[in-house]
Amino acid sequence: MKSVLIQKGTILTASEEYKGDILIRDGKIEKIGLALDDRADTVIDAEGKFIFPGGVDQHTHFNFTFGDSTCVGWESSDAAVVSGTTTVIDFANQKVGWTIKDSVDSYEEEKVKGKACCDYGFHGVVFDPSEALFEEIQRLPEYGIPTIKLFMAYKGHPYHCDDDSVLKALQASVEPGVTIMVHAENAEMIDVLQKQTVAKGITAPIGHAISRPPEVEAEAVQRAAYLAKLAGAPIYIVHVTAKEAMEIIRNEYGKGTGIFGETCTHYLTTTMDRLDQPNFEGAKYVCSPALRTQDHLDALWEAVRKGWLNAVSSDHVGFNWAVHKHAGIDSFINIPNGAPGLENRIPVMWTEGVAKGRITRQKFVELCCTNPARINGLYPQKGTIAIGSDGDLVIFDPDYRGVISNANSLHRVDFTPYEGREQIGRADTVLLRGEIVAEKGKYVGQAGSGTFVPGKPFGLSYELR
Ligand code: URP
Ligand code: ZN
Ligand code: ZN
Repeated sequence: MKSVLIQKGTILTASEEYKGDILIRDGKIEKIGLALDDRADTVIDAEGKFIFPGGVDQHTHFNFTFGDSTCVGWESSDAAVVSGTTTVIDFANQKVGWTIKDSVDSYEEEKVKGKACCDYGFHGVVFDPSEALFEEIQRLPEYGIPTIKLFMAYKGHPYHCDDDSVLKALQASVEPGVTIMVHAENAEMIDVLQKQTVAKGITAPIGHAISRPPEVEAEAVQRAAYLAKLAGAPIYIVHVTAKEAMEIIRNEYGKGTGIFGETCTHYLTTTMDRLDQPNFEGAKYVCSPALRTQDHLDALWEAVRKGWLNAVSSDHVGFNWAVHKHAGIDSFINIPNGAPGLENRIPVMWTEGVAKGRITRQKFVELCCTNPARINGLYPQKGTIAIGSDGDLVIFDPDYRGVISNANSLHRVDFTPYEGREQIGRADTVLLRGEIVAEKGKYVGQAGSGTFVPGKPFGLSYELR
């Protein structure tokens, strides 16, 4: 039975902060207390450091395909670990004519096993919203897949879903407690605006934001709220970016609708003017929904502070710029959507959130660790520091100072949208189920040691607020 004793750190959870020691035995937290005198195989001195639960990133797209491009996969999951994320919930696409379960199993077998450096779960992504899918929703919790995503956006893409599918999925979700996640943007509005933008001669990356204004997001979020209300089901809005969309979630929730949402690191920290750069640099910032202006960023910080949005994800997509993004050199419409961020979520949220006084340390843990674990039915195994929880811990050095650069990144992408930004604090040591897997920015674990963690249903609850 392997044991690790971490001494003299300051322990952070979503609700507390206190000095203490933590004993992990056989991968689980066995004891928490002051000056524990247990013997252990490994002893770590954490004096002057914070200890928080391993980060849970509930929104990543390894191996994502857009047009003819497929982005980097799980071989890059060491990038999660070094930065302090020990669990990732990845979007696994349904194959047309296949069940979600079989699609996820084959994805795991082909792309994940033997590569995963962190623990993982999956959301099914609906490509085939047939009657068979609505029946399968009843069984998803048995497989440990309690969440599925439907795309209201992307007209003409194989994963676009109409309102009838969203409504039927919501209706089917009520009994088994499956969480329906939606990418809420109005596909028709975007299609019209994209064509009009190109017709005006705007083909550069900024056209992406011009053709996806806040209204396209707000409209779809409002529609999603009505669909959820009609079905009597809770709903989860992924990657909220617009003030108007956030306000709909806040107000509908206030009226009793079970509507919840997350935002992402880049929507809190990066403005849309990044899209308007010469030499196709703006393509690095093409993600959907689009980046917004500073007033939206300010509103999103207020929303995460006040609990109107419940989690911060990376929406990591590792398309490279030199090849993949250049598919859209003649028109922004063809630029693969998405940006890398898995490796940056924890350090950027600490730097921009905690160190700059926008959120408390407890809020940081809630947004980046605890709530994502709750939403995906992994709590309290993941997302907190408690007796019996997995020994997934980040020993964090708040005194570290650095500058983010792609040259020092592990994510196997040829750019980072955070290039040149200051970094305050760093994961000094990261433990996954009691094993040291990262030290001072270096991955020291065993690729393939990540395991599937089945999620439980009914992850959306009023506890999130
Ligand atoms: O631009 C993004 N976010 N691409 C990935 C797919 C999605 O919509 O989440
Ligand atoms: Zn999406
Ligand atoms: Zn996404």
